[in-house]
Amino acid sequence: MTRGSFSDRRHLVNGVSIPGLGFGTYKHGVTSATTVEMIRHAAQIGYRLFDTASLYANERSIGAGLRRSGVPREELFVVSKVWNQDQGYESTLAVIEESLADLRMEYIDLYLIHWPIPADHDHDWKDLNLATWRAMEKCYREGKLRAIGVSNFLEHHLQPLMAAAEIPVMVNEMEMNVGYYQREIHRFCLEQGIQIVAYSPLKGIDRGYPALEQLAQKYSRTPAQIALRWLIQLGMIPIPRSYDRERIKENTEVFDFNLTPAELELLCSIQDADRHHQHPDSARIRIDRYAKQKI
Ligand SMILES: NC(=O)c1ccc[n+]([C@@H]2O[C@H](COP(=O)([O-])OP(=O)(O)OC[C@H]3O[C@@H](n4cnc5c(N)ncnc54)[C@H](OP(=O)(O)O)[C@@H]3O)[C@@H](O)[C@H]2O)c1
Repeated sequence: MTRGSFSDRRHLVNGVSIPGLGFGTYKHGVTSATTVEMIRHAAQIGYRLFDTASLYANERSIGAGLRRSGVPREELFVVSKVWNQDQGYESTLAVIEESLADLRMEYIDLYLIHWPIPADHDHDWKDLNLATWRAMEKCYREGKLRAIGVSNFLEHHLQPLMAAAEIPVMVNEMEMNVGYYQREIHRFCLEQGIQIVAYSPLKGIDRGYPALEQLAQKYSRTPAQIALRWLIQLGMIPIPRSYDRERIKENTEVFDFNLTPAELELLCSIQDADRHHQHPDSARIRIDRYAKQKI
C-alpha cells in the first residue's frame, strides 16, 4: 500500500471527493473563542474535513473559524447531522436551513442522520428515517447538500433505508477504534460502496493494549498515530479531535509509515469487553439541544 499524504482524498459513490483524514469538533463546555481559534488553526495547518452536528451547537464557531482561516470554501469539507428530535420531513428541512445559517454557508458537503432510533420511536423509526432521508434528498437535489449519509447505522438499520432511497447512502459515520473494531458493519459498508468515517478514533489509546504499545515502539510513533494509521489503512476516514496544538499536528503525521497486513489484523482483533459503548439499537440518552446555548 502506498503511504499516501495528508492532502489525499477519496471519492464517494456520487464522485464527490472527501479528505482522507478529518477533524472532530465536539468538546463539551468549550467556549466559542477557543473553538474559533482551534478550527482556524487546524484549517491553516491542512485539515480540510470538519465534523460537526446540530447537536454540538457549535456550528457558528466552526463557520467563523473556517472563514478566519482564509482557506477557500471549495477546498473545505464540512459535515453536519440532524439530531433525533429533528428527524422527520419538515423538521429536517428546517434544521438544515438552520445549520446553513449558523455556518453561514450556502451548502454543506456531507449531511448525516445522526442516530437510527430516536427515543419513543421504536415502533416507527424506519418510516421516520425515510421521511428524514426524503428531506435530505430534496436538499441534495437543490445543491444545499453535496453528499448524504448516516451515522451509527448497523446493517439492519441501513437495509430498509437503502431499499427505499432514491439517492444512495454514501457514508456511515461509526465509532471505530482499537478495542472496538466493528468488523460486520465495516464489511457490509465496503460491499455496498458506503464510505466509513471513523469517529472517536482515539478512544482506548490510553488503555495500554500491549499490541498497540509494541507497534508504537516499533515504528517510533505514539499510540494515537498507530491507531489513526490503522484506520486509514483499513480504508476509513478517522476524525480525531484535539484542542491542543501539538496533538492537532501529531495526528496528521501518519503518512510516512505502513503497518503490515498482520499488524492491521492484530489491532482489529482487540475487543475490549470492559469498555462501555452505547448500542445503536438503544434510544440513547435524551439530549435536548435546544436547552444548550449555541456557540
Ligand atoms: N456521529 C457520532 O455519533 C459521533 C459520536 C462521537 C464523536 N463524533 C465525532 O468524532 C469526533 C472525535 O471523537 P471524540 O471527540 O469522541 O474522540 P477522539 O477524537 O477519539 O479523542 C479525543 C480525545 O483524545 C485526546 N487526544 C487527541 N489527540 C491525541 C493524541 N495525539 N494523543 C493523546 N490524546 C489525544 C483529546 O484530548 P486533547 O483535546 O487534550 O488533545 C481528547 O481527549 C468528535 O469530536 C465528533 O466530531 C461523532
